[in-house]
Amino acid sequence: MLVPKILVLYYSRTGNTEKIAEAVAQGAKTVKGVEVELAYQATPEMLPNFDAVVVGMPTYHHDMTLDVKRLFEEAAVKNINLKGKIGAAFGSYGWSGEAPKLVLEIMKNRFEMNVVEPPLLIKYTPDQTALEKCRDFGKKIAEKLVQS
Ligand SMILES: Cc1cc2nc3c(=O)[nH]c(=O)nc-3n(C[C@H](O)[C@H](O)[C@H](O)COP(=O)(O)O)c2cc1C
Repeated sequence: MLVPKILVLYYSRTGNTEKIAEAVAQGAKTVKGVEVELAYQATPEMLPNFDAVVVGMPTYHHDMTLDVKRLFEEAAVKNINLKGKIGAAFGSYGWSGEAPKLVLEIMKNRFEMNVVEPPLLIKYTPDQTALEKCRDFGKKIAEKLVQS
């Protein structure tokens, strides 16, 4: 049987979302029988190689990051099929935190992915309690994959 694969893709300008991404990947890796790849960049063509796509980005100016927007726009134009794959989102934020919600909406409505709701939102820099939450989030996604 093929080993299920999780992509944890993130963008971070000042390092907060990076810390979250590392903890999410760490949590996912505690589940036996899954492969976890932590990446800063991805192409649309890469996405179908994974069974779960977990995207992290901070919220700047009430929006998702340009790189992530571009990735999903290109994937849509190229008709990349992600239907039925697990989708999840997370990110650091300051006061409104729209970005992870926006990416989840795209995953769900455009790509018909099986999304994990709600997204994981961490205010500014994650402390130890927040990092624990991030690890749990990653673990939960990996367990979902192993069970399915
Ligand atoms: C110019 C600027 C605009 C921002 N806009 C928002 C915003 O619209 N909503 C929000 O929740 N946080 C906003 N933030 C806060 C960032 O999301 C927060 O600093 C976050 O921790 C950055 O994550 P990163 O270290 O992964 O880049 C803004 C921060 C800056 C510097």
